[in-house]
Amino acid sequence: MYPRKIRAMLIAGNWKMHKGSSETREFCAALRARLPTTEGVDVVVCPAYTSLHDALGMLAVTEIGVFAQNTHWEREGAYTGEISPAMLHEIGVGGTLVGHSERRQYFGETDESTARRAQGAIGAGLDVIACVGETESEREAGETESVLRRQIRAIADAVSEDDRDRLLIAYEPVWAIGTGKTATPDLAEEAHRVIKGLLEVPVLYGGSVKPDNAAELLGQPSVDGALVGGASLEVESFAAICQAAIHS
Ligand code: PGA
Repeated sequence: MYPRKIRAMLIAGNWKMHKGSSETREFCAALRARLPTTEGVDVVVCPAYTSLHDALGMLAVTEIGVFAQNTHWEREGAYTGEISPAMLHEIGVGGTLVGHSERRQYFGETDESTARRAQGAIGAGLDVIACVGETESEREAGETESVLRRQIRAIADAVSEDDRDRLLIAYEPVWAIGTGKTATPDLAEEAHRVIKGLLEVPVLYGGSVKPDNAAELLGQPSVDGALVGGASLEVESFAAICQAAIHS
């Protein structure tokens, strides 16, 4: 189970559609050796559904948590191909991502479905990292703030105040995901302030976070952690980002 602490900083590794069961076991064994303690920083990995069980087994004795990458909102029902939050909770998964931009872009995820997934997951006892962020054309058109307002409002309307201690937001500008283009620390700070003005929860930054830019991004006052894609696939780079959080 995800070890809950006072949330100073959270680093989450989003593996996307990478790492089957044996690669997951190998990675977790190496991460355990490389990161024997997380010194007050919350660290989680988000494997594919079929690798969750392996990650949970390998990391059971550590402070490192395991989250899913998505979940349905209902407990059970006629939703072929979906996984419910109760199913995740039953095997010991501590939380889940929802509304990642790749889900919005390729699988028809909307503000509304993202909000429903967030609410359903929290209702089932999971922590939630809900992803928001503008596209390049929205930023160029000066719409960043209005896009963030719309995305955050949908989540805030769905998740009651009493449930918000299980909610985190990840600000991931879509143009920075997997592109090597990172938001400048100032730009990230500005967007995080907008989000925190709308919803008082921790806000992670995501989008090409690497060992060499992590310390500066994590050093911003409104950045409460990072959602890491590409750099979370190698133990060395993921551990280096966790170390940057430990020392920030
Ligand atoms: P990236 O991905 O670090 O590879 O840009 C981040 C994410 O998609 O969560």
